[in-house]
Amino acid sequence: MSIVFNEKSQTFHLFNSKISYIMGVLPNGHMGQLYFGKRIHQKEDYTYLLEMVPRSMGSYVFEGKRTLSLEHVKQEYGVYGSSDYRFPAVEILQENGSRISDFCYKSHTVTDGKPKLPGLPATYTEKDEEAQTLILTLEDKVTGIELQLLYTLFAGDGVIARSARFINRGGSAVHLLKAMSLCMDLPDCEYDWVQFSGAWARERHMKVRRLEKGIQSVGSTRGHSSHEHNPFVILKRPRTDDLQGEAIGFGLVYSGNFLAQAEVDTHDTTRVILGIHPESFDWKLEPGEEFQTPEAVMVYTDRGMNDMSQVFHRLYQKRLARGYWRDRVRPILINNWEATYMDFNEEKLLRIAETAKECGIELFVLDDGWFGARRDDTAGLGDWKANTELLPDGITGIAQKIEDMGMKFGLWFEPEMVNKNSDLYREHPDWILAVPGRSHSQGRYQHVLDFSRKEVVDYIYESMAEILGNAKVSYVKWDMNRSITECYSGALPADRQGEVFHRYILGVYDLYERLTSAFPEVLFESCASGGARFDPGLLYYAPQGWTSDDTDAVERLKIQYGTSYCYPISSIGAHVSASPNHQVMRDTPLSTRANVACFGTFGYELDLNRLSAEEQEEVKRQVEFMKRYRELLQFGTFYRLKSPFEGDGNITAWMVVSEDRKKAIVGWYKILNGVNMPYMRLKLRGLDPDREYAVREEGEAQGKDCGSFYGDELMNAGMVTTDTSAGDAMPGMHQGRDFDSRIFVLG
Ligand code: DGJ
Repeated sequence: MSIVFNEKSQTFHLFNSKISYIMGVLPNGHMGQLYFGKRIHQKEDYTYLLEMVPRSMGSYVFEGKRTLSLEHVKQEYGVYGSSDYRFPAVEILQENGSRISDFCYKSHTVTDGKPKLPGLPATYTEKDEEAQTLILTLEDKVTGIELQLLYTLFAGDGVIARSARFINRGGSAVHLLKAMSLCMDLPDCEYDWVQFSGAWARERHMKVRRLEKGIQSVGSTRGHSSHEHNPFVILKRPRTDDLQGEAIGFGLVYSGNFLAQAEVDTHDTTRVILGIHPESFDWKLEPGEEFQTPEAVMVYTDRGMNDMSQVFHRLYQKRLARGYWRDRVRPILINNWEATYMDFNEEKLLRIAETAKECGIELFVLDDGWFGARRDDTAGLGDWKANTELLPDGITGIAQKIEDMGMKFGLWFEPEMVNKNSDLYREHPDWILAVPGRSHSQGRYQHVLDFSRKEVVDYIYESMAEILGNAKVSYVKWDMNRSITECYSGALPADRQGEVFHRYILGVYDLYERLTSAFPEVLFESCASGGARFDPGLLYYAPQGWTSDDTDAVERLKIQYGTSYCYPISSIGAHVSASPNHQVMRDTPLSTRANVACFGTFGYELDLNRLSAEEQEEVKRQVEFMKRYRELLQFGTFYRLKSPFEGDGNITAWMVVSEDRKKAIVGWYKILNGVNMPYMRLKLRGLDPDREYAVREEGEAQGKDCGSFYGDELMNAGMVTTDTSAGDAMPGMHQGRDFDSRIFVLG
């Protein structure tokens, strides 16, 4: 890993064994983008990559010379209006009304390791030798604004983390209207754009389309990263798939409004932009003030999207997530939400917990409905005090009773919200986000607390810390159940209202930081009506997230498959729920529900007392299986094998392989059964070709011996998964059915 600056050619080459990233100072002092891709040789000069040919209708920077047009060169951090007409990375409104800026290279530093981004989540290093950081300092002479572009190159993997920092060293205030985390121009447009989109309970479905001329983008203006789109996109070559080919993944370590965009210009170059959504963003920068953008992470691979995902998984699991739980297998939990909703009392909860304990479950999570006047979703949010009619000895009491059973206790909060029917709102009606004199929209009968105000965050911190400090709470589920409307803070002046969305998220991060520091051994799970804030920003504080409110095993195949493109299995909250399923009313086998959920942070979300004795026995076996294999499932190398988004999507398959390649687990899922179906073989990945693996089928098959095969056989000839639905039922053959699944353990 190295960052080399060539003084003569004014070029920077960032490289490790996998990638090269090359930039050069343009003749006008701006930064030009020369190359990002597979590692190439280190040379003194790459300026031949700057193609400055005169073109008709171009606008040119230098008087009398038709060479440098910013529209026609590939840039690092594009500006609009001084010969570039593409969407810019930066827009600054100045005292005289101008929005033109001219950031020119001034100096740079290279340091080992990676600096922290104040107040923001970001990837990090534990040892200096893990990464090097280049900080380019640029200056806009007219305003005196300094722009620092930060690039961290990680050793070993094809990753670069980028962000931008603005420092007002001038004499007047300015307004940042666009301040993107990443902007880069790629030399061609032969890419597919891949986004992960959906809706509540249908998150992160993979959508692929060819890049076209003009702008294509996804984003959120809802105040959270959203169910609708994830702050993660991929540009892949049209022939690239999970197993081979070039791809670049772009992720934003942020939980609020975002924009991810690709613009193909008339000469077939592609500008990628990622950062805070400019809609509603207006950050006032007084002289002496600084603004730091969130971090963007880019991963390049020429070995397919599994390889790209594995790089994201390693980075996010080990150098974005933090704390006590980062490297620990996650407790198997039972959550009472789909078991009782808000219709519970302590006795009912303890009955569920007792059966859970008998099944080997380790953590009981009490979900929504335990506090204040909350008996349905119209009341109580904001009053974080136990309802003693339901829980006579409060949270301390029930937590102790669960501990006495030999389980851990977890608790649900929705810290950012308030119902009008609450003591908190009655006392502080001015603490919500609302525009004075206008009506304020509600969502799920609730309003959003103004987390841009320190006293609000302080108050919520105190209420939560009081419970976490007094009761034996080992886990917190942090929910967020509505988007933000009428985003206005009563505490900020008119010319700072464009800061509220971002200040709100900074308030959320501040509360997370304080709680996770004060209670370092508490496991935090993020949640926002399921997966509305399943983003890298929250992974920094909460190493796992509730992936979706849809707990149906079949629906979960697409959701978890899509999620896996960026996020590690150890972050994917997945539960076995009741059948028929509460979201889609589908009946699926108990085994399939567990076979899907075990590729995640496994748990149950149903009343186990309503299961038959045989089903409870099956649950015990599932829990034992998970305990035996969770290290491998949650921390192994994950490979997608067969996509539910391709073809008829009837078969999905994925697998994990241990670091030493001695063990692997394969999950195979079939939605609808068929008659006289084709023969089926599944080509496995990541195995040691020369190792002989004993293959056992677990789950319902309970350890059936499937024979021994070399890794090269399993990866090239494939594992036979044809079942009896292919023809007549044959003794010893797997009996197929609708919503079928199989788990194979290789070792
Ligand atoms: C939405 C979450 O995603 C659910 O799991 C549950 O916690 C409810 N909120 C409770 O209101």
